[in-house]
Amino acid sequence: MSEKNALAILGSPHVNGTTAAMLDWAISKAGQAGYTVTKINLYEKKLSFCTGCRACMDTRICVQKDDIQEIAALLKGCQLVILAAPVYWANVPAPVKNLFDRLLGTAMEETSTFPKPRLQGKKYMLLTSCNTPAPFSWIFGQSRGALHNMDEFFKTAGMKSIGKVVCANAKNQKGLPKQAAKKIERCLQG
Ligand SMILES: Cc1cc2nc3c(=O)[nH]c(=O)nc-3n(C[C@H](O)[C@H](O)[C@H](O)COP(=O)(O)O)c2cc1C
Repeated sequence: MSEKNALAILGSPHVNGTTAAMLDWAISKAGQAGYTVTKINLYEKKLSFCTGCRACMDTRICVQKDDIQEIAALLKGCQLVILAAPVYWANVPAPVKNLFDRLLGTAMEETSTFPKPRLQGKKYMLLTSCNTPAPFSWIFGQSRGALHNMDEFFKTAGMKSIGKVVCANAKNQKGLPKQAAKKIERCLQG
């Protein structure tokens, strides 16, 4: 049987918040779908800022020795990434953006035209929450902005989306809304 490893990344500082609830539900569904899931909490990781040295374009891994080495190894060894991040200023929180920056040369190779992906064949799923209620969360670019940013990283890396789930109006939700739970489940069944 082929290996089915999933990397679940919590990109929220709140381990009991809406984003974490979405991720925990996705982890349980991924487990039922046969994945062995490794969960990491980005806010617990030691990650310096990307210095823009671009050495990773050749080395394929950041030259700074901190927790990026472990995360890059998990990324390379998995078939599915589930990234959960709340909307901060219509974008992703800083640690998530920094993760993408630190993985530049792990994810892609530069050419004279378009970037060449380095993580082809893997799948990804995006989970996000925001306080703006739907449909304004999308219309005014709140969740749209965060999803666009996350998509840009994974698509450029050559990975294929299996779904995106938004939990809008988060501050008025008690627990994980049924609709979001169902949507997460559907993405992981396919
Ligand atoms: C710094 C910061 C910026 C935020 N920016 C937005 C925003 O642009 N749009 C929005 O709808 N909600 C915004 N929010 C609300 C968060 O998206 C909301 O608190 C989050 O969905 C809760 O997720 P959590 O339980 O994982 O923390 C912001 C919250 C913080 C702390």
